[in-house]
Amino acid sequence: MAISDWKKSVVYQIYPKSFNDTTGNGHGDINGIIEKLDYLKMLGIDYIWLTPIYLSPMNDNGYDISDYYEINPDFGTKEDFKRLLDEAHAHGIKVMSDIVINHTSTSHQWFVESRSSKDSPYRDYYIWKDGKEGTPPTNWESKFGGNAWQLDEETNQYYLRLFDVTQADLNWENASLRKEIYDMINYWIDFGMDGFRFDVINLISKGEFKDSDKIGKEFYTDGPKVHEYLHELNRNTFGDIEGFMTVGEMSSTTIDHCIKYTNPERQELSSVFNFHHLKVDYKNGEKWTKMPYNFIELKQILFKWQLGIHQGNGWNAIFWCNHDQPRVVSRFGDDSTEENRVKSAKMLAISLHFLQGTPYIYQGEEIGMTNLYFDDIKQYRDVESINAYKIMSENGFTNKEILDILQDKSRDNSRSPVQWDESENAGFTSGTPWIEVASNYPTINVKSALENKDSIFYTYQKLIELRHNLDIITYGSIKPLLETHEQLFAYERELDGKVLTMLANYSDQPVAIPEDIDTTGEVLINNSEVFTRELEPFQAVAILR
Ligand code: GLC
Repeated sequence: MAISDWKKSVVYQIYPKSFNDTTGNGHGDINGIIEKLDYLKMLGIDYIWLTPIYLSPMNDNGYDISDYYEINPDFGTKEDFKRLLDEAHAHGIKVMSDIVINHTSTSHQWFVESRSSKDSPYRDYYIWKDGKEGTPPTNWESKFGGNAWQLDEETNQYYLRLFDVTQADLNWENASLRKEIYDMINYWIDFGMDGFRFDVINLISKGEFKDSDKIGKEFYTDGPKVHEYLHELNRNTFGDIEGFMTVGEMSSTTIDHCIKYTNPERQELSSVFNFHHLKVDYKNGEKWTKMPYNFIELKQILFKWQLGIHQGNGWNAIFWCNHDQPRVVSRFGDDSTEENRVKSAKMLAISLHFLQGTPYIYQGEEIGMTNLYFDDIKQYRDVESINAYKIMSENGFTNKEILDILQDKSRDNSRSPVQWDESENAGFTSGTPWIEVASNYPTINVKSALENKDSIFYTYQKLIELRHNLDIITYGSIKPLLETHEQLFAYERELDGKVLTMLANYSDQPVAIPEDIDTTGEVLINNSEVFTRELEPFQAVAILR
């Protein structure tokens, strides 16, 4: 079904490296995506978002781009990519691609030139500063660990790298750089792209370069010129294309900024990802701690964003998972028994998909894939996890402590191959996968999900269909319910006199629905056979009256 308004759409995120390998080299590829379009069509999604497939040394799996105009041969050719666009369109599926323009790989020609001499015309495409008496220009910390400045011996200056040492931050102050970026984006629009996801886009405007009493984020997050740049980007590229969907990844942002980013009158982006709801297990804001999550805080954050963005006429992306997050069923659900895994995965889907915003489904989420539970650092591939391992070891953590934390937190949890069937390597590759397949693939795989009409897959399929058919899910206002309840997540949506109520029990015990909650109406979806005033463990229902 072609939907009339992009706001009613659902996006499926593909991490190509781990999706489906057709060559046997252990890496997923573009042809592998084409092979699975029928499957995605069956699920019912409207867009696929591909994480970066451009030329890259792959130190950060493609978020380190060395040529924006070329496709990484590990994934295929430009012709393959064109075919993917054509075939996706023939399936009624649109394609969004990731654009990483906060930084490039240090192998990008611009950086190679920039580094070569202080007089290079490309010097100013990046952020170079002198050190302070043999120490870096500021004390800012890289998001992947260590100081955020890297000394380059050649010219004895430091370049800024908020991520890996091989990911140098671009200098958006430079107008020629901005123009080159707009040209590149227009190239991909002309190529046939239907939308973009902009990587860490709220970090592009760096403010003052001063020491911080924290880690430096306050100087470059939602920086002084970010709205000006995004408006300029919009006007010079996709802004006037009807229905063109953009989503900005916003690191540590605020509701006020996100309203500005997405209120259509401002002509910046169509929607935003924020991550506050996924930081509910960080102790005192520290990233690498193993902690149970805080359910009440999770609800508070989701509600605050739902209300704030709705009132400001902005637009949210809603999601539990992506390639940087652990698997949601292992995190907020329960993967300790098969029954609880299935039930809680459906509950998480139901409780998210009736919120306002564009839902994103991350590959494998629709079959309830779990965390990896690796028990050896050698099994990990992610640059962030490996850096964290080093830093934690230097700080006196034991091997066991670090591995326990990585089992919860590592980005590799979501990067293992999609489990297609019960054959060797879960049907992902005939070769050796670049990262191990989760050991539970004989039970958790697409083939068995499709064969079982009660599987998690069909819950997602139904949720997408409901969103397409019921305007209230897209446009209705939201009213939080039971905000301080310790087990239930509940809210109402309202549109034109109709009320949709969503109720979910996040605990593994039965819970009575408080008396003041109206549960009359038509049950739209229910992850149990029964529906009484007492919800079963992990039961979730949505009712329309
Ligand atoms: C974003 C990406 C992440 C990447 C980082 C640097 O957060 O989602 O995977 O490592 O940006 O580009």
